[in-house]
Amino acid sequence: MSVLLSPWGDPPSTIKLARGEVHLWRFRIDLSADVIAGLKPLLSSDELLRAERLFDPLKSISFVAARGRLRQILARYLDLQPAAIEFSYGVQGKPRLAAESDQQLSFNLSHAGNWGLLAVASGLVVGVDIEKIDSQLEYEKMADLVFSPAEVVCLGQYARKRRRRAFYRIWTRNEARLKGQGGGFSTPSRMGQGTGWRIRSFSVHRDYLGALALATEVIKVQRWHLH
Ligand SMILES: CC(C)(COP(=O)(O)OP(=O)(O)OC[C@H]1O[C@@H](n2cnc3c(N)ncnc32)[C@H](O)[C@@H]1OP(=O)(O)O)[C@@H](O)C(=O)NCCC(=O)NCCS
Repeated sequence: MSVLLSPWGDPPSTIKLARGEVHLWRFRIDLSADVIAGLKPLLSSDELLRAERLFDPLKSISFVAARGRLRQILARYLDLQPAAIEFSYGVQGKPRLAAESDQQLSFNLSHAGNWGLLAVASGLVVGVDIEKIDSQLEYEKMADLVFSPAEVVCLGQYARKRRRRAFYRIWTRNEARLKGQGGGFSTPSRMGQGTGWRIRSFSVHRDYLGALALATEVIKVQRWHLH
């Protein structure tokens, strides 16, 4: 059975997520200084420390924006204040809710360029990835380095003008699965491994490609756009 994605829609004021369902949220992270200043107080002291330690100011702002939005969105499901949410971390850094929620809520976050992407699920393991398609990236060299031989062959079968997007499609699918598994860059043979995952690709915005990986079968995924 395939994963059906709804169009990106406006979220209702009250969000309901039944067991076995997945919601995908997209939101901008290129926010004004005023909005960033309003999000900062939502972050925990360790998150603020992490933001401070990020050498690149743009990365620091993106981190604050993505964590702030993550907290605001999760608060809708948990009936908590965004600042009251506590996270704990897997061995390779995958964040999860510190306290077990009634809905067994799980989530995974990704951000790239101007956009953030968040999957929220109930009773399911999820992974997401978003990448901005870089027109300058020497993607064929990168594919030779990190893709499996079968993926390199697959990439070569695309017409040249479609090949860059195909590279990002394979890349984001692998990353989403890896993130679902909670692995990281240190995980051996990171590309082309792993079975039993259901993966769906989609466009998040022009030049931004996303992928969602689910460890189980889900029929319908609701997509929300956060303004
Ligand atoms: C997880 C990882 C693959 C994502 O990298 P990326 O594509 O650059 O970034 P994305 O935007 O898609 O995802 C980042 C988000 O994924 C989440 N995340 C972090 N680690 C994760 C993991 N191991 N698995 C799943 N999700 C993870 C976080 O929410 C993070 O956002 P934040 O930095 O704002 O908190 C990369 O950060 C990584 O390899 N981390 C693990 C590092 C590692 O191997 N450490 C070894 C410890 S022994």
